[in-house]
Formats: sequence, structure tokens, C-alpha cells
Amino acid sequence: MTDVYDDYRDEFRKRVLAGRPRTILEVGAGDGAFLRTVAGQVDRLAGLDPDAMNVANLKMEGFEAVEGVAERLPFADGEFDIVVFSFTPHHTSDWNAALNEAMRVARNGIEILDVWYDESIADQRTTLALDRWYKTIDRRLGLVHHDCLTPGALLQPVIARPDITFDYACRRIASSLDMAETLEHGRTKLAKVDNDPALARAFEEIMAAGRRDGMSDEGAILMTIEKRR
Ligand SMILES: C[S@@+](CC[C@H](N)C(=O)[O-])C[C@H]1O[C@@H](n2cnc3c(N)ncnc32)[C@H](O)[C@@H]1O
Repeated sequence: MTDVYDDYRDEFRKRVLAGRPRTILEVGAGDGAFLRTVAGQVDRLAGLDPDAMNVANLKMEGFEAVEGVAERLPFADGEFDIVVFSFTPHHTSDWNAALNEAMRVARNGIEILDVWYDESIADQRTTLALDRWYKTIDRRLGLVHHDCLTPGALLQPVIARPDITFDYACRRIASSLDMAETLEHGRTKLAKVDNDPALARAFEEIMAAGRRDGMSDEGAILMTIEKRR
């Protein structure tokens, strides 16, 4: 069975390549999952990540890779046709700075892929609650891991600019979460914060809602922000 992420990534790849960019920078390249989907299809493909180990691995795989953060990109104005964020916006410490930096470095515009939940559906609301619970623990452990950004929050840093156009699609492939696996993951996560009683209670409530309403895999938002010319 294919992971829902494979489908979201495939649709994103097509969206990124639709305008035939010659040069692409990915901000927050991680282990290269996005870079691999477009490798060989542009003249210049670069990845930036704050994690030195990620950067070293990307270089070993043959990618142009640079250590740095989204909020201060070490590139010239308009150096890349497009700048990509793939599952990275909710990891940045300052999305406003990150998107404005990407706009500076992009000649044509920005492509974004990130997690999205359909809050109009009960089984998505329970999964969103679970996602927030996981991230509460991650933050307690010192990670930068924010709640997923809504379409409005993603656009907010540039919404008043007269020189952009944008469009986005919210996608969701209906697929149920395995409750036994979810319970197991949750317990493992809880152990990392010494089974904190408030977090344990919150987890029980989320699982009870999940047994009642179901839980489903996350959806994805795919967004394009273009510079008008
Ligand atoms: C969920 S991973 C996404 C990896 C990859 N883009 C993909 O599509 O699978 C998030 C990445 O964002 C990076 N990251 C975290 N904070 C960042 C920041 N402030 N600027 C740039 N990247 C950041 C992390 O190191 C991590 O590699």
C-alpha cells in the first residue's frame, strides 16, 4: 500500500515543475525526500538545512547543500527561480521572516507543501488533537515544532503585497489510522516526558474521541505564491 505522503509528494512535484523552473532551492531539505523527486530535472538544485548531519548526507548523495536557517538565507536576491518549503513551515521559528527571505531569494515565486487537517470532519479533528499533543511533547523536549499553519497563516506574511498572486489546494486521501499502532506510539512518546499525568489524561481523552469518531491520516496543503511581473 502506498503511503498517502507519496501521493501528496507526487502532486507537489508536478506543481513545482509546472512552470519549468531552471533553478530550485529547497529550504529545510532534511534527508532529501523532496530533492530526490526533482533531481535531474533542473539546471541547479540546492538544499539548505540547519542540521549539519543532514547537510553532510545530502552532499554525500551528490546534492548542492548548505547549512543555514530559513530566516536568514545565505543567497543573493533572485538567485533561484523558485524556493520550495516541503513539510518545513511548521518547523521554522519565525515563519514571517522565513517566507520574506524566500520571496527575496526567489525570482519567480514560492512552492509550499505542508500538513493540513480538514477540521470539518470529526475523524480529522481527533487526529489534529493528537498532532497537537505530540507537538506539545516535542516542544517540552526542546524541539521547534509548531501547530500546522492554516492557509491564512501561511499567506499572512505576504498577503498585503500588491506584487503577488497565489493559489492553493487542500488535499486529503481518506485513510484510517490504526488505533493499536497509535496507542503504542502515544505511549512511547509519553514515556519521554516521564508519563506526565496531565499529558497522560489528555492522551486518554484523545484516544476516547478516536474510538468514538475515528482517526485518519493527515491531508496536505499545496500552495503557490507567484511574483507578478
Ligand atoms: C519534516 S522535515 C522536512 C524534510 C524535507 N523537506 C521533506 O520534504 O521531507 C523539516 C526540516 O526542516 C528543518 N528545519 C527546522 N528548522 C528550520 C529552519 N529554521 N530553517 C530551515 N530549516 C529548518 C529540519 O532540520 C528538517 O530537516
